[in-house]
Amino acid sequence: MARRTTTRDLHELYEAGIPITMVTCYDYTFARLVEKAEIDTILIGDSLGNVMQGQDTTLPVTVEDIIYHCRAVVRGNHSALIVADMPFMSYQASFEEGMRNAGRLLKEGGAQAVKVEGGRAVAPLVEQMSAHGIPVVGHLGLTPQSVHKLGGYRVQGRGEAAGQELLADAKALEEAGAFMLVLEMVPTELAQKVTESLSIPTIGIGAGNVTSGQVLVLQDLLGMNQSFTPKFLKRFANLEETVTEALGAYRDEVRERSYPGDEHSFD
Ligand code: KIV
Repeated sequence: MARRTTTRDLHELYEAGIPITMVTCYDYTFARLVEKAEIDTILIGDSLGNVMQGQDTTLPVTVEDIIYHCRAVVRGNHSALIVADMPFMSYQASFEEGMRNAGRLLKEGGAQAVKVEGGRAVAPLVEQMSAHGIPVVGHLGLTPQSVHKLGGYRVQGRGEAAGQELLADAKALEEAGAFMLVLEMVPTELAQKVTESLSIPTIGIGAGNVTSGQVLVLQDLLGMNQSFTPKFLKRFANLEETVTEALGAYRDEVRERSYPGDEHSFD
C-alpha cells in the first residue's frame, strides 16, 4: 500500500521546484482513481456544496458534511495528503469553535490538514492551530465563503492597493504557521509576487502558471459540467458526454431487450 504524502513531502517538492498537484475529491470511487493518478494532495473542498449537493454557494456546507465526505475519500486513497476545508461559520465565531471543529476534521474525518479562508483576520486562529499540531492551508484571493461581501465570483487583488493588502495577508498567514496557501482568481503578476515573497508553497486556481502548484475541482477538470466555463478551467476529459452516451446506450439496450444477454445471465 502506498505511503501517505506528508506536509514535509510537499515542502520538499516545493524546495526542489517540482509543481505540487492537488484536486478536490469528495467520494471513495474517485479517491481510488486519484491515487492511481499519483496526485500529491486532495482537498475535501466546501465546493462539495456546489458539486455534490447542487447548492448555489458553499455557505450551507456543514462540518458534518465535510467529515462524511472526508471519511469516504480516506477509505479510497492511501497516498495523498488529505486537506479538509473548514466550512463557513465553523471557525469564524470563536477561537474555541474553530479549534474544536479543526480537531473534528482530523479525528473524525481522518484529514491530515485543514484549510481556512481569509488573511490577517484568521491569522491568530491559524497560529493556535499550528501551535497545537494542526497543519493549516490558507486561502486568499477569491474566497467563496465571502461571495456576498465580494459581490460575486470575480478576480481579486487587482490594482496596487488591493495587491498590497493580499500580500500582507499572505505574509501574516505564513508567519502564523500556515504550511501552504491557495491563491484563487488573482492576477498572475500578483500570484508571482506572493509566491516569491513566501517560503511556503502557493497553490493556484486561476492564478496563472507561476505558483508552486495547481488545484482544480475534480468534476470540472474531468468536464462533467460543460456549462461551467470559467477562464482558468481546462477540461482534461469530456465525461459529461462519455457518461450521458453510456447511459443512453444502457437505456436503449434495456428497452430493446438486448441487455442483459446470455453472457450476463445465470443458467
Ligand atoms: O472548496 C474548494 O474546492 C476550494 C478550491 C477551489 C481551492 O476551496
